[in-house]
Amino acid sequence: MLSGDLVKIKIRAYTKKDAEAVGRIFSRASAKLKKANGGLYADSKIESWVRWGHKPEEVHKEFEDMNTKLFVAVINGKVVGSFGYQDGAVNFRNDSKLGDRGGFARLRFLYTDPDFKGRGIAGRLFDKVMDEVRKEGYKHAYVYVVLSAHGFYQKKGFIHVPALDSYSETQPYDPEINRRISIVSGCTHKNYTKIEKTPVDFFFEKLDI
Ligand SMILES: CC(C)(COP(=O)(O)OP(=O)(O)OC[C@H]1O[C@@H](n2cnc3c(N)ncnc32)[C@H](O)[C@@H]1OP(=O)(O)O)[C@@H](O)C(=O)NCCC(=O)NCCS
Repeated sequence: MLSGDLVKIKIRAYTKKDAEAVGRIFSRASAKLKKANGGLYADSKIESWVRWGHKPEEVHKEFEDMNTKLFVAVINGKVVGSFGYQDGAVNFRNDSKLGDRGGFARLRFLYTDPDFKGRGIAGRLFDKVMDEVRKEGYKHAYVYVVLSAHGFYQKKGFIHVPALDSYSETQPYDPEINRRISIVSGCTHKNYTKIEKTPVDFFFEKLDI
């Protein structure tokens, strides 16, 4: 494999033909989530994500149904990453806490092939998607983030808003996990001991993009 500097990363719009590759990357990245997130995500949840990624029709349908504009990163003809956005007012998780997010783009589906991590792929995808989002006239952006990706978004100027985190019914409250979350997310321990459930999707936003 070529070293990072020599590899040419191309970013282009997703097409239906990419659904299989994008789904496969999602499955492979999801399979590693348990280890990367200190047990935060239940096995059953991770297994369901991994299975979903192996169904290209469903993967494509998700982007179509949600009107997600997805981009892929390609190296030597191989799809190695994905990232996209949709209108932030589309409340597809029925999360009433979000309210009307007019003017916000909702970022989603940032995945780098585990074999290609650390080569600037997510960074390139991020720059492209933010350019598109600004061109579309959005003023703000938000994203639900897994624990291990907090650092990436923090580096990009996003702020964690704990009040808007999401919770899973299948994930039992675990004070030890909450303690670890507070360290990784940079939130105070107090924020997390107050709540009786463990968040699984962490809400990050950036105003005035
Ligand atoms: C998070 C993820 C997309 C990063 O992909 P990547 O292609 O390895 O990232 P890049 O090489 O483009 O890194 C870009 C920058 O972000 C930094 N970065 C990447 N991941 C980071 C992390 N988890 N914490 C802190 N910084 C991170 C890099 O150091 C780099 O910094 P630099 O520009 O100063 O050099 C990748 O690790 C991944 O797919 N993880 C699993 C899935 C996931 O968590 N997706 C997010 C779903 S919410």
